[in-house]
Amino acid sequence: MARRKKIYEGKAKILYEGPEPGTIVQYFKDDATAFNAEKKDVIDGKGVLNNRLSEYFMNGLAQIGVPTHFIKSLNMREQLVRQAEIIPLEVIVRNYAAGTMSKRLGIDEGTQLPRPIVEYCYKDDSLGDPLVSEEHIAAFGWASQQDMDDILSLALRVNDFLSGVMFGVGIKLVDFKIEIGRVFEGDFQRLIVADEISPDSCRLWDIETGQKLDKDVFRRDLGSLTDAYTEVAKRLGVLPQSSTPITKPTLIN
Ligand code: C5P
Repeated sequence: MARRKKIYEGKAKILYEGPEPGTIVQYFKDDATAFNAEKKDVIDGKGVLNNRLSEYFMNGLAQIGVPTHFIKSLNMREQLVRQAEIIPLEVIVRNYAAGTMSKRLGIDEGTQLPRPIVEYCYKDDSLGDPLVSEEHIAAFGWASQQDMDDILSLALRVNDFLSGVMFGVGIKLVDFKIEIGRVFEGDFQRLIVADEISPDSCRLWDIETGQKLDKDVFRRDLGSLTDAYTEVAKRLGVLPQSSTPITKPTLIN
């Protein structure tokens, strides 16, 4: 049997060479990490849920004309995506204060912000993904001014879409992170939403109870991460065919 070529293994995903040039197979692992991988665990079924949820959000974005890397679902843990040159920035959009913003500025978690605030972090684990300004981005050539205009517009469109979708199922979109990739079409380059959109990369709070339904459940030891993600998937009507994720090989007699 031919072994496929691994391109990259990250904390939560593995990328394999796709069947055609310009494509990649994105495999969602069950590994959970937080605080720059200082805290680690394996959460049975997380990869299956994130694969389906990311597919759901990326498909929705495509429907409203936001370009993404998603091509098609392959199986419970894998999706085929367009190969893109990832801009080395984490683009964070915040609607309510939480996490590092609350810590940095001393604002209570849950405080509604006067408008969505977009932040950029330089993607480098060894530096702990530091917050950077547009000045840094321009000076170090990570993205051009035109790119930055496009990135801001993409980030705000994703925010409007995700906020609306989540509001429809009784969930508040507190904040999220996306990554942006460049693809080349003839002489033109286009920016697209890449990586993943899942409860690993969003803060999602139940509107009624304030219950956290995202990776903070793992970061802050608040209970079962699988239950939280399953709740999000159930509300959106996005559950894998089998509701008990198959995580280990099973012998069938
Ligand atoms: O930790 P912080 O408050 O800066 O995170 C803001 C948002 O970005 C959260 O939804 C978090 O899950 C997401 N994020 C991420 N990957 C990172 C850092 C933050 O998905 N490396």
